Amino acid sequence: MTTPAGAGPGRPFTGRRAPNTGPRESRDQTRTKGFEVASNSEILALSHALTIARTPGVPARPNPRVGAVVLDDVGAVVGVGYHRGAGSAHAEVDALVSAGDRARGATVVVSLEPCNHTGRTPPCAQALIDAGVRRVVFAQGDPNPVAAGGAATLAAAGIEVEGGVLADEAALINEEWTFAMQERRPFVTWKLATTLDGRSAAADGTSQWITGPAARADVHRLRARCDAVLVGTGTIAADDPRLTVRDPDDVPLARDEQPLRVVMGTRDLDSQAKVFDDTADTTVLATHDPKHALSTLFTRHRQHVWLEGGPTLAAAFLRDGLVDAVVAYVAPAFLGAGRHAVADLGVTSIDEIRRFELVEATRVGGDVRLILRRETAMTRGAG
Ligand SMILES: NC(=O)c1ccc[n+]([C@@H]2O[C@H](COP(=O)([O-])OP(=O)(O)OC[C@H]3O[C@@H](n4cnc5c(N)ncnc54)[C@H](OP(=O)(O)O)[C@@H]3O)[C@@H](O)[C@H]2O)c1
Repeated sequence: MTTPAGAGPGRPFTGRRAPNTGPRESRDQTRTKGFEVASNSEILALSHALTIARTPGVPARPNPRVGAVVLDDVGAVVGVGYHRGAGSAHAEVDALVSAGDRARGATVVVSLEPCNHTGRTPPCAQALIDAGVRRVVFAQGDPNPVAAGGAATLAAAGIEVEGGVLADEAALINEEWTFAMQERRPFVTWKLATTLDGRSAAADGTSQWITGPAARADVHRLRARCDAVLVGTGTIAADDPRLTVRDPDDVPLARDEQPLRVVMGTRDLDSQAKVFDDTADTTVLATHDPKHALSTLFTRHRQHVWLEGGPTLAAAFLRDGLVDAVVAYVAPAFLGAGRHAVADLGVTSIDEIRRFELVEATRVGGDVRLILRRETAMTRGAG
């Protein structure tokens, strides 16, 4: 992914790098991976910006979480701000408001490249120019081609610009958003519950519940972090699941907080199925093509799909290389027969094995949760 400015996660942008830049203090010990001339106070401010970007309660989607700090010419903090979600002020504008007149001639440090486009709010690059700031230091280059180019706009207006400072840390705050913007599709996490012998249902088709209550509560917690829950029509027919996010008392979240329920497949479904109740929105994608399904969901502003199976749909996504992470709940139990957790992947020899990186193994109640990741351009550290 490139932006017009050439900036991206882990990649520095430098616009009009003047020798005498930033707060009047030593810059000699500040050379760190990804940037060259940020001062100590700017790096500290950027760490602060990364922390406030993560302010609890701020939604991770559809907009990225962003924090900003305004520094005066001796490196003192004169303003802070963060983005509180779609439709509210962007972090830079929030910080400029908090700095007031002290923004003139100041340095603005921000976790994401200032945007260059008019969405629900005006472009931040223009707001920074209008506020008369002297210097902008940002972490992650904007991976969204629609919004990118802010650094170049600032530099063209004569503002000193440094990008790429702590870029990888910043990209991790908005990992799925960054992935979706770069890949133009949602990040896919496949969740499965399996016995130790790799079965996801018994021989008679029954499958609820392979894992215990703690694992099921954990599923709801992680489901809530996604904006779409995807199953095949076979799972609807076999289990009639609700696919909603519910609290430990089985009370669903409010409808506008629920991920979109998505059913993929071509057969007719029972209109009385629970997935069509009014607890959450539901869409049916009458296709067998995972790529097409994901691009449709991306156009509907979905950035993180929680793929709940079943085995046929999971196999289709795995075969197409479209599973980015796996959350596997493994029960200390055996079935010996019944559906495998994943259908045929077309693997005939060991060198075709679909291997993932094990990120975490955690005991959850009486079960084990494994978190696996597929390497991506981002996790490899490329832009
Ligand atoms: N343990 C777990 O974590 C877990 C999770 C989910 C389900 N399950 C179990 O899995 C079983 C259901 O398995 P399943 O494989 O039938 O469910 P599934 O994968 O949810 O649905 C399969 C159906 O999806 C449609 N489909 C959509 N995309 C497809 C593609 N690319 N290739 C082929 N078909 C596609 C097809 O139906 P159309 O004819 O409609 O196109 C297909 O028959 C149930 O017993 C359920 O309990 C277990």
